[in-house]
Amino acid sequence: MSIGIRPLHPLFVGEVSGIDISQPLSRTDVAAIEAGMDRYAVLAFPGQGITDDQQCEFSRNFGELEVTLAGQMAKPEDRRLAKLELGDISNLDAQEKLRARDDSRRMYALANRLWHSDASFRAVGAGYTLLHGRIIPKSGGNTEFADMRAAYDALDDATKAEIDGLITEHSIVFSREQIGFTDYATEHTDKLRPVPHRLVEMHPVTGRKSLYLSSHIGGIVGWPVPEARAFIRDLTEHATQPQFVYSHAWRVNDLVMWDNRTVMHRARRFRDLEEVRDLRRTSIKGTGLAVEPVSAVAAE
Ligand SMILES: [Fe+2]
Repeated sequence: MSIGIRPLHPLFVGEVSGIDISQPLSRTDVAAIEAGMDRYAVLAFPGQGITDDQQCEFSRNFGELEVTLAGQMAKPEDRRLAKLELGDISNLDAQEKLRARDDSRRMYALANRLWHSDASFRAVGAGYTLLHGRIIPKSGGNTEFADMRAAYDALDDATKAEIDGLITEHSIVFSREQIGFTDYATEHTDKLRPVPHRLVEMHPVTGRKSLYLSSHIGGIVGWPVPEARAFIRDLTEHATQPQFVYSHAWRVNDLVMWDNRTVMHRARRFRDLEEVRDLRRTSIKGTGLAVEPVSAVAAE
């Protein structure tokens, strides 16, 4: 069996065949997947029936696993999944019941419907995210992806020159603020502090530049806040035009893997008070960035 990849979107999404990710991978397989990620940025692996442990094992081929912020902030008795490395992307509570409309965790997670890059609120954001579909609603609940390399390439030269070297400030507070969520426990304030990132990043392997955008952005260093937010909104609008976007309609046992350094994504609405959607997420620390995050805020 050898790995094959066919395009699902001409710019940046491929579908992988000829692999069983529940089994240990050879170095050749890992290299083929990494090369596919560099070429595309999003890879879908359909028909992969895997356990939580197998998802973690498969993910570890690509680096160190992140512990999710939502998992860290949840009380142990409120966690549905035992493993902290496994993000619970579902609308179920610890008793496997649908979360109520005013459930705080539900409202927090609704910000995933805004375009974002995973964990960009951390000093080192996520590299790859891997999402596995366990229970899929009858309609809605797609995940959309936008190619930040193509979006960068399509900017005019004046804008490219203007944004080169700009430093943005990211915090989970900024994305939640946009949907009116402010209900944080006070003991977590250290995790809410803004972190700096470059607006334009260069991929460590391909050398391609991309926009590092995210709804977690709340400012640009040296800019007045309203000007920064209006500009980030403009760039986001540019970067998520239909020609840069792929919408993934989930099937049970799809695993979709993407590179947060080169794509943004968002979840789409579904009838989450009536239907179950259960996906499991693993994320890899975003090492190898050509441009390391700098402490621009401290330098101010
Ligand atoms: Fe996400």
